[in-house]
Amino acid sequence: MTINNDNDCNKIFDEIIQSRRSTRLFKDEFPSKENIEDILDAGMLAPYAARAVGHNQDFRRFFVFKNGSKNIEIAADLMYKKAEESLDHFKKMVAEKPFLKSEVQLFMEKLQMIVDKGVLGVGTAPYFVIVAELKGVPPVVMESIAHCLENMWLKATQLELGFGIVSITSQMADDDEFLKLLDLPKGKYAINGCAIGYPAKKLPSTKRPDTKMSTKWL
Ligand SMILES: Cc1cc2nc3c(=O)[nH]c(=O)nc-3n(C[C@H](O)[C@H](O)[C@H](O)COP(=O)(O)O)c2cc1C
Repeated sequence: MTINNDNDCNKIFDEIIQSRRSTRLFKDEFPSKENIEDILDAGMLAPYAARAVGHNQDFRRFFVFKNGSKNIEIAADLMYKKAEESLDHFKKMVAEKPFLKSEVQLFMEKLQMIVDKGVLGVGTAPYFVIVAELKGVPPVVMESIAHCLENMWLKATQLELGFGIVSITSQMADDDEFLKLLDLPKGKYAINGCAIGYPAKKLPSTKRPDTKMSTKWL
């Protein structure tokens, strides 16, 4: 496939990158199955660490949870329990080693928010999608997942859908019950998740530092 390099395509590509935002509030309306499939196709086309996984073709899998289903309730419940356990663990750790508090404070606040309100994006968005990526050597699996999620994110943006990362999902990769739900073998895959749906409101373009100020040409 050749790339159409005219100015219009370039402009559209820049517009998609500039309009990509994290969506945390969604409308109830479900995007079409075709839209979700297009987003997954974009994810499948993202780079993967071919050598690390021994060129295994089963390097990436997707799990689509629809809001209102029994399975999304089970997933949300297991994730909630995991957040409770982790919060408990960090509380004990900080009680024993108070000097660690500043390092873990923000993560503990996030866990507390889940314990108070549930997992944002799981049951609060039309779709919760998990990406599972085969682990390998060297251990670059989370980088591969990030590439996959970014492709999905840009495709969702182009389809005017909201997208939000649900990074607490990665903590579920070794949870027996969660793995049973996904029918994944223990220890072989890393996972992460995202929420997809129509955004409750359109967010303005993201603000970032001036790239020139953050760049050194050598
Ligand atoms: C590795 C990673 C993990 C993230 N995890 C979460 C998350 O669990 N929940 C969430 O609401 N946003 C999450 N985000 C989104 C960031 O908070 C967001 O990208 C950042 O605030 C900038 O906002 P923008 O995406 O709208 O430009 C994550 C982003 C990255 C790159």
